[in-house]
Amino acid sequence: MVAQAYALGATAVISRPKEIIVKLAQIEVAQRATQSDFAIASPEIIDSAATFASMFSAVRRGKPIELSDAENATSQIINSIAQNGLSAWLDDVRRYHEGTFQHCLLVTGVAVGFAFDIGFSSPDVKRLGMAATLHDIGKAHIPRCILDKGGQLDPSEEEIMRRHPVIGYELLKDISGISPEILDGVRHHHEYLDGLGYPDGLTAPQISDLVRLLTISDIFAALIELRPYRPTMSRQNAYQILCGMDGKLERSLVKAFRNVALAA
Ligand SMILES: [Fe+2]
Ligand SMILES: [Fe+2]
Repeated sequence: MVAQAYALGATAVISRPKEIIVKLAQIEVAQRATQSDFAIASPEIIDSAATFASMFSAVRRGKPIELSDAENATSQIINSIAQNGLSAWLDDVRRYHEGTFQHCLLVTGVAVGFAFDIGFSSPDVKRLGMAATLHDIGKAHIPRCILDKGGQLDPSEEEIMRRHPVIGYELLKDISGISPEILDGVRHHHEYLDGLGYPDGLTAPQISDLVRLLTISDIFAALIELRPYRPTMSRQNAYQILCGMDGKLERSLVKAFRNVALAA
């Protein structure tokens, strides 16, 4: 009752305001937790985000990547999407995370949702999920001022940014037990069927199915990210942009992606 009186501005009745302030804070947190806008992030999001954060900071400090960390993060994302669907994952990730972690969590979720939708076997879901989890690990060696820059990169920044697929590949290639498909995904997720992608300028016959799926998931996730410096793009508009990239992305896969992009 005293706390409520204090909340109404009746400070004169309080003998120990500090305790009351603590109590009020507790009441406010409890009230917020019952409102959807302040709902607490799911355990999968907390765990997989923590794993992404520790992977990135280990790489920044020059430590080797633990494949088991990437496997744990991927499994948490697969389980969450299998249980609650892709839309819940996308909404939660965008509510709680920013920048590169948000991007990696979104790409992995979209890729896993895509793999489920086209009926991949569970080893294939896991393989695509792992490639997505690790696809931008090379960004751990790109300066944060470039990664987090609001708006367009200038040509020299762009040139540095474009090194991340090869950096990621070099970081991973000697790890025992890593599959060649994952390495392929990390190195080639910015390649296009028309040969105008990077870093190797591959053309359609050289680009595997896993890479084609990963590239579509990566572009879609990048478009729907929440960024402080630009309005959020709807899933419909992001899908329209993918449809306009005919010649660069495989048309039949973009068509199959419609379900994933637009499902409620
Ligand atoms: Fe990338
Ligand atoms: Fe990416």
